[in-house]
Amino acid sequence: MTPSDYEYLRKLLKERSGLDLSADKQYLVESRLMPLARKASLSGIPELVQAMKSGAVALTSEVVEAMTTNETFFFRDKIPFDHLKETVLPGLIQARAARRSIRIWCAASSTGQEPYSIAMILKEMGAALSGWRTEIVATDLSMGVLEKSITGLFSQFEVQRGLPIQMLVKYFTQQGELWQLNADIRAMVQHRQLNLLQDFSHLGTFDVIFCRNVLIYFDQATKSAVLDRVARNTERDGYLLLGAAETVVGLSDSFRPLPDHRGVYVPSAAIANIAANNVLKFAAAAT
Ligand SMILES: C[S@@+](CC[C@H](N)C(=O)[O-])C[C@H]1O[C@@H](n2cnc3c(N)ncnc32)[C@H](O)[C@@H]1O
Repeated sequence: MTPSDYEYLRKLLKERSGLDLSADKQYLVESRLMPLARKASLSGIPELVQAMKSGAVALTSEVVEAMTTNETFFFRDKIPFDHLKETVLPGLIQARAARRSIRIWCAASSTGQEPYSIAMILKEMGAALSGWRTEIVATDLSMGVLEKSITGLFSQFEVQRGLPIQMLVKYFTQQGELWQLNADIRAMVQHRQLNLLQDFSHLGTFDVIFCRNVLIYFDQATKSAVLDRVARNTERDGYLLLGAAETVVGLSDSFRPLPDHRGVYVPSAAIANIAANNVLKFAAAAT
């Protein structure tokens, strides 16, 4: 690949997916895109770039997808899911007692382990949410990962990563070498393709937004812009959960960290209310 091919790909990926590649990631691009070039009967990356420049739209989308990192696993990092179960959902059950509905958005849902972990937590809450309307919207840029997520089929390796054995037994059925997530849990999650760089105001507002392990691939300006737009889709007393290597600090004034709850953020306007209403005391008692 020539330096100009690499520059072309860097610019295109930044514009299309927000991926911010440093100047020394040629090896990554080669390893991700060579299989795609071969599949398209092209001899290498220069020919792939040429085809893209000539207007190969489908191929360009495949390149963008191939460059996404889809690493995920059930109950990833555990603590955010503990916060969801012990603080966020109990708080919302009180706050939404009149309307009895909760909307959750999983904004870079990859192959489904994250939204389905959330669905299993809601299911485990049982009576506390009985009669409530709960909605989980799972979105991702990549159609490939969404299609896999919709099947609800996971390999032995995937179910061994983070999923407690009791949950495997309770919510999955073995099908040959794969595990099929039960239909009632699958039905709790709606899937939609969505690029976080594009407008998502049409999704409406959510009580909880998981936007984990995707901002790390963006540059500072893109992180800030996405966080500010995510804030507009967050209920005034809602919650944002970010990945372990992500934060709002120094990037957006729209959210503040929820004290003593690593990875959990609340709209800035809410923090004053939380303190005033002494909800933090409630949160501490629940953990
Ligand atoms: C590393 S995975 C994280 C999955 C999950 N949230 C987790 O923490 O386990 C990152 C996901 O972000 C998606 N992604 C990358 N850029 C995106 C964008 N601009 N808009 C929406 N999703 C994007 C990728 O397709 C990938 O599935």
